[in-house]
Amino acid sequence: MQREGWGSKIAFILAASGSAIGLGNIWRFPYQTGMNGGAAFVLIYLVSVVSFGVSLFLAEITLGRFTKRNPVGAFKTIKPNSKWFLVGILGIVTAIGILSYYAVIAGWTLYYGVIGLFKGFKGFTSETLVKQTFLSFSTNTQLNIFLLFVFVFLTVSVVSFGIKSGIEKLTKTLMPLLFVIIIYLAINSILSPGASKGLSFYLKPDFSKINPKVVLFAITQAFFSLSLGMGTMVTYGSYLSKDDYLPSSALLVSITDTFVAFMAGLIIFPILFTVSGLTPKEGPALVFIVLPVVFSKISGGSLFGTLFFFLLVIAALTSTVSLLEVPVAYFIDEKKWSRKKASLITGSLAFLLGIPSVLSFGQVKFLERLPIVGKPFLDLMDIVWGNLSLIVGALFLAIFVGYVWGINNAVSEIESGKKRFKLKKIWSFILKYFAPPTIIIILVAYAVSL
Ligand code: PHE
Repeated sequence: MQREGWGSKIAFILAASGSAIGLGNIWRFPYQTGMNGGAAFVLIYLVSVVSFGVSLFLAEITLGRFTKRNPVGAFKTIKPNSKWFLVGILGIVTAIGILSYYAVIAGWTLYYGVIGLFKGFKGFTSETLVKQTFLSFSTNTQLNIFLLFVFVFLTVSVVSFGIKSGIEKLTKTLMPLLFVIIIYLAINSILSPGASKGLSFYLKPDFSKINPKVVLFAITQAFFSLSLGMGTMVTYGSYLSKDDYLPSSALLVSITDTFVAFMAGLIIFPILFTVSGLTPKEGPALVFIVLPVVFSKISGGSLFGTLFFFLLVIAALTSTVSLLEVPVAYFIDEKKWSRKKASLITGSLAFLLGIPSVLSFGQVKFLERLPIVGKPFLDLMDIVWGNLSLIVGALFLAIFVGYVWGINNAVSEIESGKKRFKLKKIWSFILKYFAPPTIIIILVAYAVSL
């Protein structure tokens, strides 16, 4: 059977940015920034995107296009009879792990869209109101399991239809609208009275806040946001054609993704500090507490808010689709499963694994505060899959492309179209000598600081 491919280069860019842009930008980036000291975190995140991020993005799509395989198959093609395929397996497990709790948060966005539609956001003017709403919603087990189910179901449906028909259609039309709303909201927040405190938290680095955890979490936020370190971009790259010039795609997607995250911070922090009682350390609930306040303050807020949450649902869906596509491509390529069977089985797994995350907001005390780690189950999942696993995956990927496959082979794949790759020296330096030691040092420093 012929392997499916993207309809055009623009289709790839749209799908790759669909994967990159999602809750990672709008939910996770502000919450991580808030938990990890503000502007210093933002700075390290930005440096990480420019250094590791773009380079690893390019490494992943190049590996994918060359091998035309899922992550496991990609390692096997280049280095058969070795243990390297285990890095691919880690990616597949990570995809299901991330999907499980990501879909829970995606369910929240769906619910907030529905609130906007039926109640509007005018009433959300104080800390107590927004927190009460969040609390009574997040502890409603049946509703949250239902929302998780709806989201996984949507994801499975899109993935079962295959690459072209499923993903391309979704991304083409709706993302520009989300961009416009985000820019409008950011301008409103910046100009609102009292914005300066939030702006300085977000933009004026306090270097005393930097420690191994902050650095580790900032780097991994860059990976999470760009969908790197677990083979999503290997998988998406595998559907690319030889004529596409990969470096410009890597750059374009990275810039767009980072822009959206940066804007999300500009929406959240200026408003956050104007509501008494709210702090940046609200954790995963942060944007669901602050955004309703943002919408209560602007004219047309209920309309914009509703639209915003529903567009965020679509943005999250194009990300969950890319997460599910990783194990699905693996089972199709390596185990010869049908696309439907692969989507259904892996989707069900993610759903089941998502249930303890749903229950970690107070319904089950044990899951709300796990022994030893002292954190809710969902937060632990986010740390294990969204931070640690991605950075380990990224480390091995850099080593693999830099040393095992080799920069020269990778560059000749990049140059297999007509264009030369002018930045190959810097790229090679980053993959071989910058990324691996930096990641190892940070991992060790973090482990020691625990
Ligand atoms: N990048 C996505 C986001 O920011 C999440 C994601 C991570 C998707 C890893 C695929 C792989 O929402």
